[in-house]
Amino acid sequence: MAEFFTEDRSAEAVNARMGEDANPRLRQVMASLVQHLHAFAKEVELTQKEWDTAIAFLTATGQLCSAERQEFILLSDTLGFSMLVDAINNRRPPGATENTVFGPFYVEGAPIRAMGDNISLDGKGESCIFEGRVLDLDGTPLEGACVDVWCDNADGFYDVQQPDIQPKWNNRGRFVTGPDGSYRYRGVKPVSYPIPDDGPVGQMLAHLGRHPYRPAHMHFKVTAPGHETIITHTFVGDDPYLADDTVFGVKETLVAPFERAEGETAWRSVFNFVMVPLAEGAAR
Ligand code: BEZ
Ligand code: FE
Repeated sequence: MAEFFTEDRSAEAVNARMGEDANPRLRQVMASLVQHLHAFAKEVELTQKEWDTAIAFLTATGQLCSAERQEFILLSDTLGFSMLVDAINNRRPPGATENTVFGPFYVEGAPIRAMGDNISLDGKGESCIFEGRVLDLDGTPLEGACVDVWCDNADGFYDVQQPDIQPKWNNRGRFVTGPDGSYRYRGVKPVSYPIPDDGPVGQMLAHLGRHPYRPAHMHFKVTAPGHETIITHTFVGDDPYLADDTVFGVKETLVAPFERAEGETAWRSVFNFVMVPLAEGAAR
């Protein structure tokens, strides 16, 4: 006879109910989740009131989700979970460009622009030239790589957050490399900004004494045939939030130079992307 539920063996009682035919990976993941969830409640001696508060919080988080707003991803991001899953799934050899959090503001299908084009369409901010090369691990330039970029404007908002204020595709574009693997475009020096904090995740951060800010960064999605996609940012090194990004996205190797040469009116940030060849048979 299956065992009755007891406090001592609560997780075992739940996991014993799984059918023999359940997908083996689902069994493994769910069994571990149940075990850790029960262990957590036991460790903190969770009160009924606390669990009711948690359910209300999760309910509000779900209710805020829409095509434009993904509060659960914000929750995952601010708990460092997005970065953990990303790290587990994107272990790369030394020298390869590291991944970081994707964020909610990517838009598929940005205009393909010519090298050197300006992606800042609202005329705000400090002009900055972004350039570098897309390389293979052995230093070979990659032709036909697509460097898809997006960032906030000088007021700290993405175009999709201000559809009635900013021009469509403001601070976005795709650049396809030629034989020398180089890319080059003009934009604005990114500024730090708060993640959307007018919902339950913002309330959680406030209760925890945490600020909602991300250090200034430029987003990149770099794709090339036969290579692992890189989803990353470059960070502005002197940003006050560099050491405490609210979504834990900063990695030392992603802090890029942002320099203003004497006499030059624009900033310049040079960063090379180093891509890893796809493992035989892999599909990404
Ligand atoms: C972003 O950098 O666009 C971002 C990342 C995580 C949460 C919110 C925003
Ligand atoms: Fe961002």
